[in-house]
Amino acid sequence: MESNFPVVDMGLLQTEKRPEAMDKIKDACENWGFFEVVNHGISHELLDTVENLTKGHYKKCMEQRFKEMVASKGLEAVQTEIDDLDWESTFFLKHLPVSNVYEVPDLDDEYRKVMKDFALKLEKLAENLLDLLCENLGLEKGYLKKAFYGSKGSTFGTKVSNYPPCPKPDLIKGLRAHTDAGGIILLFQDDKVSGLQLLKDGSWIDVPPMKHSIVINLGDQLEVITNGTYKSIEHRVIAQQDGTRMSIASFYNPGSDAVIFPAPELIEKTEEENKLKYPKFVFEDYMKLYAGLKFQAKEPRFEAMKAVETTVNLGPIETV
Ligand SMILES: [Fe+2]
Repeated sequence: MESNFPVVDMGLLQTEKRPEAMDKIKDACENWGFFEVVNHGISHELLDTVENLTKGHYKKCMEQRFKEMVASKGLEAVQTEIDDLDWESTFFLKHLPVSNVYEVPDLDDEYRKVMKDFALKLEKLAENLLDLLCENLGLEKGYLKKAFYGSKGSTFGTKVSNYPPCPKPDLIKGLRAHTDAGGIILLFQDDKVSGLQLLKDGSWIDVPPMKHSIVINLGDQLEVITNGTYKSIEHRVIAQQDGTRMSIASFYNPGSDAVIFPAPELIEKTEEENKLKYPKFVFEDYMKLYAGLKFQAKEPRFEAMKAVETTVNLGPIETV
């Protein structure tokens, strides 16, 4: 089934085949919430360096700590399903509005420099993709970037994860099912050890590992802004019994004070009963709610924000 998974050759966007590539992105956004891009402009050499340094850092600084966590919680011997933790080893880097790459402990200087460079390239790719989405949606160029802007610009960060071999993958998920809260997510994942799955039409489908590709998925904010034309899709990571899976997910999100609401142009195009489907809210309020409800369905989150909307005056901090 995964052979249908949409793979977009971004090189085609500069050729006469541009309309086909744009259609593929449109179909992926409407029907999958996920796609994989190749020829995305980030050099294979940089990706290889990021991968080598990330795997080296895991071995040197993270693996032992993870093993100790597993031992202290007795996770090797669990007999029943664990639903309150994920079998993953992670750390976070912030890039926008202010970088913390030089403050995060345990990283060597080369790794910091490479991750900073990688983040800059991913930021460009995210903004490029947002404009392609605008074009497919019939929104003016720059609309989504502006919608995310708030007073200090978008937030952009990276979650670096490793999923070590797990003795009980049927009882402990690598990462439990969820939709992403933010805007657009760019994932550089291991090309050998798989495990990422998305929910499509009621069944879990593998996101195929592909060397040097970047997996793109859409978060809850794009669902709101597109008034449901695009949807954030549930995904999860199945831990594997062999091999450690590397996953570097970068989140291009609205600024904390950005006011998020469906694009008026897209509301006009929807049928009457869907016109008031999505709320208007300040992004950081959504994130506060998400923090406690990440592993639950998104619809109650939208409903809760709607309830808040009626009591809060959002007037003075319009973004558009
Ligand atoms: Fe996610």
